[in-house]
Amino acid sequence: MLRFLLPLTLLAGLARAASPSLMPLPVKMDAAAGKFAIDQNFKVSSAGCSDARVAAAVARFLSRLSRQTGIPGWNRGAEGAGVSLTLVCAAGETPSPTLEEDESYRLAIDPAHALLEAGRMAGILHGLETFLQLIQPGPEGFQIPAVHIQDRPRFPWRGLMLDVSRHWMPVEVVERNLDAMAAVKLNVFHWHLSDDQGFRAESKLFPRLQQLGSDGNFFTQEEIRRVVAYARDRGIRVVPEFDIPGHTTSWFPGYPELASAPGPYEIGRHFGVFDAAMDPSREATYTFLDAFIGEMAQLFPDPYFHIGGDEVNGKQWNQSVRVQEFAHEHGLEGTLAIQTYFNQRIQKILLKHGKIMIGWDEVLGPDLPAGTVIQSWRGQKSLADAARQGYRGILSSGYYLDHLKPARYHYGVDPQGGPAADLDPAQASRILGGEACMWSELIDAETVDSRIWPRAAAIAERLWSPREVTDAEDMYARLEVASRLLEWTGVEHRAVHGPMLDRLAGNHPAEALRVLADACEALGLGNGRRGGNYTTQTPLNRMVDALPPESESVRATERAAARILASRPPGPLDVAQLRQQFGRWAANDERFQPVAAENALLAELRPLSKDLALLGAAGLRVLGYLESGQAAPEDWIAGQTRECARIERPTAEVSLAAVRPVKLLLEELARRSRKPGNR
Ligand code: ACM
Repeated sequence: MLRFLLPLTLLAGLARAASPSLMPLPVKMDAAAGKFAIDQNFKVSSAGCSDARVAAAVARFLSRLSRQTGIPGWNRGAEGAGVSLTLVCAAGETPSPTLEEDESYRLAIDPAHALLEAGRMAGILHGLETFLQLIQPGPEGFQIPAVHIQDRPRFPWRGLMLDVSRHWMPVEVVERNLDAMAAVKLNVFHWHLSDDQGFRAESKLFPRLQQLGSDGNFFTQEEIRRVVAYARDRGIRVVPEFDIPGHTTSWFPGYPELASAPGPYEIGRHFGVFDAAMDPSREATYTFLDAFIGEMAQLFPDPYFHIGGDEVNGKQWNQSVRVQEFAHEHGLEGTLAIQTYFNQRIQKILLKHGKIMIGWDEVLGPDLPAGTVIQSWRGQKSLADAARQGYRGILSSGYYLDHLKPARYHYGVDPQGGPAADLDPAQASRILGGEACMWSELIDAETVDSRIWPRAAAIAERLWSPREVTDAEDMYARLEVASRLLEWTGVEHRAVHGPMLDRLAGNHPAEALRVLADACEALGLGNGRRGGNYTTQTPLNRMVDALPPESESVRATERAAARILASRPPGPLDVAQLRQQFGRWAANDERFQPVAAENALLAELRPLSKDLALLGAAGLRVLGYLESGQAAPEDWIAGQTRECARIERPTAEVSLAAVRPVKLLLEELARRSRKPGNR
């Protein structure tokens, strides 16, 4: 069957109707005739690629293919006659991925044969991921509609930052997230390895760092090498971050002499900005950091090395006679000047060890060494400022996953948009891309995947696909598919939800809790949920932790509601869908309350459950009016509107997303009831 009648280049609107659910969307995708069958005989030839990583990549690819289709038997590797997919790499081996690497690929899938060509290893890896995303069950089994794709990224730096300090994330968590990153073509793993709450990398030169700074949870050097190799095999660069001179409390139990005020120090348990900061006035600080960075430089082959540099409040420096005298002697006025001096010293150390400095946007002060890369987080303006001043930069403002904002929000943030839109081409070219940030105040190893995925895939698309690809509805349609596919990579963002709800329900069936959960969304840090009340010891086992940030089920209800409003008379299937959903909500409270009785973790949800029942009942009644065309009593509409406004306010750090479709219908009903002629 001819799936596409037109080239789909950049035509997001058209793509929605016809394109396969690729994420990120490729630059150019043209339909061809027929389909390519995926069956037991499928074989890959990588003879045309000399890179040693290709064989392993093909083995992983075949194993994913098996999981995704349920067809066994490919794990043995499959060279020889009757090849179905041929890989061709123009250039030879690349030892490690680099920022400058050519990531483009060409994928031609015809009924008899598929060809994946790339200049470099990165392109082969990306093309294999695209291939996996194209596979669909069809009338005769798994298949790919014939298609020709040409693809390359818009930005070379497409990252995910993971904070493993505030809550510990073991190697398995890191590795499965690297697999998921590769699946959506993210290519930088920014590993936030130290902060006030934990020092997570083994130092052999300074072992008290991990011995006294990590509660025993740190990555050994062997594990670090393994993760770096794991990432490299998947085309992902690893950029370590050791956040200095602030956010350093966990360094000080072992080495209090590094601090600007005498100890003793303990690992941070709360969150926020701490006063502790390294002493910039002592030569010994730089001697220590020189040796430490030299040691870490051996573990991390990527030339970029992140020094943090954020949120230095200057309190310890202001209170230290020694630091103040030092500042005076060196003509350093104020915290920023002292920090810039510190940065200059660190940059020289990094240079000596072959590293390029990257820091959070606070490091953008006067006299910042040329070549430093700025990571903009406090607003997009710092990125534009940096680019104007000749610095390269990446965007993270707008990509904070811990805020648990909808994918739509992140998708709307463009690294070259906002204040960066006025840059000239040379300045704009200094914007290297961006990074999604997963800070871990309110997440742990159990919930981290569900906070990263699937929303990070929307950010991945923003950083990969052409700028013109901006249709959020189309993005959501593909994101839901991508979310399901991502589970085959090993991340557990969907799988974790059920068991967490079961745990909350105890020995009651969790069904009523599931109905409530499907109607709710979790609030994130800085978005209604306050990290300041939490410590690293707070259990993350409540409803808010079990919920995803966006409810697919509510989104489906909203779409049905929007369709009902757009068509007269309303489509019977949409009406039936809404009636069923509203009915389920209306009836759920009666089943939920007994489950919540005498359950400390569920008690806080009892008002939410009552409100869900109210919404269900209101929704049913609104539907009745809209279907019959009768006007609703004004005072009833006013009362329900007030209820919706009340229900929109979060309870128990959870928002009852179910209010949105009901409000949408109610607003339309109010309009129609005011204008009787317009029914
Ligand atoms: C940051 O969020 N403090 C970089």
